[in-house]
Amino acid sequence: MSLNLLQAWQGAKKRLEAAGLAGPVIDARLLVEAAADATRADIVGDPYRALTPEQEAKLEDFLSRREHREPVSHILGRKGFWKIMLNVNSDVLTPRPDTETVVEWVLRDFPDHAAWSVLDLGVGSGAILLSILSERPAAKGLGVDVSEEALAVARDNAANLGLASRVALLRGDWTTGLGDDSFDLVVSNPPYIASDVIETLEPEVRDHEPRLALEGGADGLDHYRVLAPEILRVLKPGGRFAVEIGYDQKAAVEALFRAAGATDVQTLKDLGDRDRVVAGAKKPLET
Ligand SMILES: C[S@@+](CC[C@H](N)C(=O)[O-])C[C@H]1O[C@@H](n2cnc3c(N)ncnc32)[C@H](O)[C@@H]1O
Repeated sequence: MSLNLLQAWQGAKKRLEAAGLAGPVIDARLLVEAAADATRADIVGDPYRALTPEQEAKLEDFLSRREHREPVSHILGRKGFWKIMLNVNSDVLTPRPDTETVVEWVLRDFPDHAAWSVLDLGVGSGAILLSILSERPAAKGLGVDVSEEALAVARDNAANLGLASRVALLRGDWTTGLGDDSFDLVVSNPPYIASDVIETLEPEVRDHEPRLALEGGADGLDHYRVLAPEILRVLKPGGRFAVEIGYDQKAAVEALFRAAGATDVQTLKDLGDRDRVVAGAKKPLET
């Protein structure tokens, strides 16, 4: 006898709970929806709809992958961030809600219809850059990443969101080759996890996300040491920047940007009330 949507969801919850996963209810729902080509409303409004044998087989595959700690975002191949949906795979960091703090700050301070330019260093899936451009129709952006595979994902996402004409994506080592005084805004979510912490992370992150997107050297700060002076170099006078940080890196990262000559340096908190973003500006030209 075939499973219906409700049975599939309940069975999936039990299996994920038994595997010791955090958040089994939501994971089970997302996997059932994707396997059965159903919406959340279908599970509630049409709970006795039967799954086809192909849908049951798909769900079995999804659950077994999740039991082996593959992230839901990789199983589904997509993740919502801010107001957009992004394709993701194991070549990019799965965008985190914490990172929306950067987007929120930018949208608060950068005007709607002016033609300003934004540089996203370590663009990954395009989460930050594409969210900003989707809300600021006159802005243009450049996304840089050292990973060609990550850039392929960002390129797909830009095209799917109809933003390709306003985005350039470039393979590079941070700001290498970029001119001085070029951008109104620089954003970045660089890798900032200390090397010896990586092995202690959840398997979803440790075993499935690119090391290149995670590792920030012995104290987690290696990339900020390079980025602070370089971000100040490529910003136009009066330009602004915002970089994501680890919850305990506020003092060190603020100090690096102040030492590089930044003004108005401040730290913003995420929705969980943790220090999450260091923002600031490059001095305007004297008049
Ligand atoms: C933490 S992920 C952030 C991805 C995306 N911006 C986000 O917020 O979801 C860091 C990104 O930096 C890239 N990266 C690491 N080292 C780099 C380097 N030297 N130059 C440029 N990009 C680099 C990684 O490939 C990865 O995509």
